[in-house]
Amino acid sequence: MVSPSLSHLPWKVRISVFFLSVLLNISRRRNRTLNRRLFDFFNPKVPPTPNPIDGVKSSDVTVDPSRNLWFRLFTPTISAASTSFLPVVFYFHGGAFSFLSASSSPYDAVCRQLSRSIPSVVVSVNYRLCPEHRCPSQYDDGFDVLKFVDSDGYVLPEIADVSRCFLAGDSAGANLAHHLAVRVCQEELRRVKVIGLVSIQPFFGGVDRTESEIRLDGAPITSVYNTDWMWDIFLPDGSDRDHEAVNVTGPNGLNISGMDFPDTIIFVGGLDPVLDRQRKYYEWLKMSGKKAELIEYPNAIHAFYFFPELPQSSLQISRVRDFVNQHQSKMK
Ligand SMILES: *[C@@H]1O[C@H](CO)[C@@H](O)[C@H](O)[C@H]1NC(C)=O
Ligand SMILES: *[C@@H]1O[C@H](CO)[C@@H](O)[C@H](O)[C@H]1NC(C)=O
Repeated sequence: MVSPSLSHLPWKVRISVFFLSVLLNISRRRNRTLNRRLFDFFNPKVPPTPNPIDGVKSSDVTVDPSRNLWFRLFTPTISAASTSFLPVVFYFHGGAFSFLSASSSPYDAVCRQLSRSIPSVVVSVNYRLCPEHRCPSQYDDGFDVLKFVDSDGYVLPEIADVSRCFLAGDSAGANLAHHLAVRVCQEELRRVKVIGLVSIQPFFGGVDRTESEIRLDGAPITSVYNTDWMWDIFLPDGSDRDHEAVNVTGPNGLNISGMDFPDTIIFVGGLDPVLDRQRKYYEWLKMSGKKAELIEYPNAIHAFYFFPELPQSSLQISRVRDFVNQHQSKMK
C-alpha cells in the first residue's frame, strides 16, 4: 500500500485535507459513537440568507420537527431567472451518512453555486445521521422530503417547475440519491417528476476489496479503514457490506432493468479508493439498459468539490449545468 501523491494539490488544500482526516479520527470513539461537538466545533454551520448573496437567497423549511427533518431552499434572484420556470434539484450532502449537514458551510456554498449557475431551485435535504439513526432512516427521510414537496400542503416558490426534478448528491449523498431514484420508480409521486440523477463520487462498498481500494488505500478520507468503520456504524446490526444499500451491484442488489430509472451522470476521481466501485456502478447502469455518462478526473481526490480553487470543481459545475439543461430541454 502506498499513499497516492498529493503534491499536485495547492498547499492550502493539502492542509485542509490533512486537518479533515485528523478530525475524522479524533471524532470517532472506540464504542462506535461520534463526538459531534468536537466535529461541529471545527465545521461551523452557516445560517440561511433571506437577503440574496451572489444572486441566491436561502431559507430553511421544516418537514418534521419530531426528527429534525428539514431542507435548505436556494432560489436564484437573478433577472434571467424571472423569464422562465426553473428545474428543481434535490441535493443530498455527503459525510458517510454520519457527518455534516445541509447548513455546513461547504454544502451551503456548493448548493448556492448550483442554484446560481444552472440556474435552479435547490432543495438541500437535512436527513438524520448514523449511528444514532441507522439505515434506512436516511432513505426514509429523503423520500419523505420528496413526498412533502409533492403534497398539496406545501408549495415551492412559484418559479420552480416540479415536473423537471433532478436528484443530486455527493459521496453518501449520491448513494442516497441512487436509492431514492429507485424508490421514485417503485412508488409514483403525483407532481414531482425526476428526470435525471447527478451522482458525484457515490459512496458504495462491498465485502471484497477492489483493486483501487488496495492500490490507493493511503488516500485521505476514504481509506479502507475509514470506510469499513463508517459502513459498520451505518448498517443495521447483523448485516455485512454486501447489504443492498451498500453494494448495489452485488449479490443482494436490486435488478433495475425493468424500471424507468432516470438518466445518470457520474463523476469519479482517480485518487479515490472507491473509484472501482463507482466505475462498476456505471457499467451496471448501462448493463441494466439505462443511460449513463461517466466523467473521470484523474487527479481528483474524494470530496474535491469542497475546494473551489481546484480546477475540477468548476469543470464539474459546468458539466452538471449542461446535463441539467440538456435534459430539461428534452422534456419540452
Ligand atoms: C459487490 O459485490 C460483488 C461480489 O462480492 C463484487 O464483485 C462487486 O465489485 C461489489 N460491487 C460494489 C459496487 O462494491
Ligand atoms: C435483470 O433481469 C433481466 C431479466 O429480467 C436480465 O436480462 C438482466 O441480465 C438482469 N440484470 C442484472 C444486472 O442481473
